[in-house]
Amino acid sequence: MRRVSLAAAAVLVTALCVVAGVTGVSARPRARYLYLDPAAPIQSRVSDLLSRMTLREKVGQMDQIVVEKLRGPAGSTGDCNSTNNTDPLQPACLQRVLIANDTGSILSGGTDNPPGNTGAAWAEQYNTIQRYAIEHSRLHIPIIYGVDAVHGFGHPFQATLFPQSIGMGATWDTGLAEAAGAATREQLVATGSFWDFAPVQDVARDNRWGRYYETWGEEPALSGAMGAANIRGLQGARGDALQVAATVKHFAGYSESINGHDRVEAQLPIRYLQDLFLPSYAAGIDAGAATVMVDSGSINGIPATASHFLLTTELRDRLGFKGVVISDYGDIPALQTAYHIAPNLQVAAAEAVNAGVDMAMEPFDSAGWDAALIADVRNGSIPMWRINQAVTRILTLKFKLGLFDHPYVDPAKADAAVSANRDLARKAADESMTLLRNQNGTLPLAPGAKVVVTGPSADSITNMLGGWSVSWQGVYGGGQACCAGPPNQIPPAVTVWAGIHKADPSAVYASSQSAAVADAGSASAIVAVVGERPYAEGLGDNPAPRLTPDQQALISALEATGKPVIVVVLAGRPLGLGPAETADAVLMAYLPGTEGGDAVADVLFGKFDPSGRLPVTWPSDAPQQASGFNPGGPSTLGDEPKFFDQFPGTNSGWGSGYNPLYPFAFGLSYTTFSTSGLAVSGPSSGSVTARFTVANTGSRAGADVVPVYVSRALNADRILRPPLQLVGFTRVELPAGASRQASVTFPVSELAVTPGDINGDGPRQLQPGEYHVVVGGQTAAFTLR
Ligand code: BGC
Repeated sequence: MRRVSLAAAAVLVTALCVVAGVTGVSARPRARYLYLDPAAPIQSRVSDLLSRMTLREKVGQMDQIVVEKLRGPAGSTGDCNSTNNTDPLQPACLQRVLIANDTGSILSGGTDNPPGNTGAAWAEQYNTIQRYAIEHSRLHIPIIYGVDAVHGFGHPFQATLFPQSIGMGATWDTGLAEAAGAATREQLVATGSFWDFAPVQDVARDNRWGRYYETWGEEPALSGAMGAANIRGLQGARGDALQVAATVKHFAGYSESINGHDRVEAQLPIRYLQDLFLPSYAAGIDAGAATVMVDSGSINGIPATASHFLLTTELRDRLGFKGVVISDYGDIPALQTAYHIAPNLQVAAAEAVNAGVDMAMEPFDSAGWDAALIADVRNGSIPMWRINQAVTRILTLKFKLGLFDHPYVDPAKADAAVSANRDLARKAADESMTLLRNQNGTLPLAPGAKVVVTGPSADSITNMLGGWSVSWQGVYGGGQACCAGPPNQIPPAVTVWAGIHKADPSAVYASSQSAAVADAGSASAIVAVVGERPYAEGLGDNPAPRLTPDQQALISALEATGKPVIVVVLAGRPLGLGPAETADAVLMAYLPGTEGGDAVADVLFGKFDPSGRLPVTWPSDAPQQASGFNPGGPSTLGDEPKFFDQFPGTNSGWGSGYNPLYPFAFGLSYTTFSTSGLAVSGPSSGSVTARFTVANTGSRAGADVVPVYVSRALNADRILRPPLQLVGFTRVELPAGASRQASVTFPVSELAVTPGDINGDGPRQLQPGEYHVVVGGQTAAFTLR
């Protein structure tokens, strides 16, 4: 679906003629004004437009306001502060925000849906706002509309939704990440939501954090590759033109709060920031991401939003980012109200803009923003060149998106566009399924097996989708007291029970523990679907994420029946499994999206060979010893953060080494694979290539994920490396008995480290010496000179 072009262009020309006499832009042909000429180069159009703008018009472009500020109760004229999604857009509010305050961008936060919340309603709302801005503003500058489409366009309730990123990370399939990005793009362009605040390029290091599921995994090479592919699909760039703007967020190190709580301070040595966290964001930037969103937290005692080192030295000078930097929600006012580094909004705005923020997700007070910035420029706190630089970036983005030339969308096509691509969503969910345990070949289930299906998530759409689905905290607001979602907006989705029942009509649903135990007598296996309720941001923080006591009791009771128990986990992170650790089978399904139930059934009944591999580390829930430690045993909950590329220490025998229940990249299959014949060439042109043969040695078709690691025998520069550093990977699909040559090429720049002593903060450098590529237990050396 593309935006309406010809019809819209005609409307725009008419609008220009109508308003021309009043606004000072004369009615001469459009091409006389360079910025209105679609054939002129973007840079020239931007300079031309910038030269015609007043200071107020410029600072207005640097502001983004929530859509509620454009709504009001029916019949009202001046109350532009609606908290009710059923309130309509009000002309008086549009006039105030878009024209009097010149606001250049509008956003819908997590639950800010238009009345009805269909694709068509989104498109109509967008057209109304856009038309008002274009027809009534002096220079006819379009707005840009931003949303969080983090696993597909999660707002309209009929939308096709993909697995949340943690599940996409488990596929290790960059082609799939790109295709999902492209499918999301179709949903967004159909509804006018041309700016997507995704993907999350933060790296998950601590499963207590409530946004863990929004990441691709715990490791930068995986996260970087998946994010880069997703951005290519999302943006659909052709030359200079973009169809959607992606956002690399939250720059940088947002996932690294000191205690697992969202937006709590991070303490990040620059070496750790640069070597471990920045490469994930950098991959997204190198893929052409148009925008970057700033971390809401503080790092080393400085709010990220006010850090010149982070937003200019690192982001612009070292990573080469050229696009638009936007703050996170309300974070510039927060420099005054939460962080107390500024006495008022005026000083806060200067701190942020001078650090490198181009646009404020302000998001409530457009008049206050204009006044603060104008005062800052007048008193010299913000130099005019910096305003021009920020506005140039914002206008360039609007031109690249074609907003000046094809501003409107076709509501008649929007419903179909948001609900398309179900097959792709099922493929993504299939590939994400990660089989953690399968004793005595419990799975796959025989066709026609009589299974009892039970557990609190077995028939729950809400729990299958997670947060950022219809509303911020999930469908129905996830049942959170704060956040009741729309009660009648249930996405068409296949629950696990529905998927199993489709695959096996003899399956039985048991809605309670006692019914499940009673039904078990005549069943051949029991499927217990457990996990988490949806959550987003701080409401999802959890000091010890594990199955709830009643879920653990359910599994114990089912295990006591003596029938095989298959535990399916629907969750955004590894959970302490309690008695499920010894279940006959454990399938991690993550938050698999609208087609999740079919995908679970595909794997349980062997229609699809499980190929998901953990993108994160899974701690054990084994009872801890009286000492509180678990020497020699697996690391347990409470051991967070625990990740696979931690540096060696001197007491690894005492449980402080890498000893999880399931390691990074773990996942079982119904077939078997081998990797052989590793050969390494390079470096040449800055890259090394590893070649090897992957064979399917079993009797079923399947896909193997092969991670490629690098290790270094001697750290002669005194700087520690992880025993194994992931540098690349491949996913190889093979029929039974077949084998194939595979190759993975990685840039040696991935091996660069921050030089110096513990206070090192210079740019990363490559250290010469011998390195080893490690693939499937084989090793081959190469040398950096
Ligand atoms: C989140 C961002 C999101 C923004 C807009 C913030 O609370 O941190 O990730 O893009 O809201 O919804």
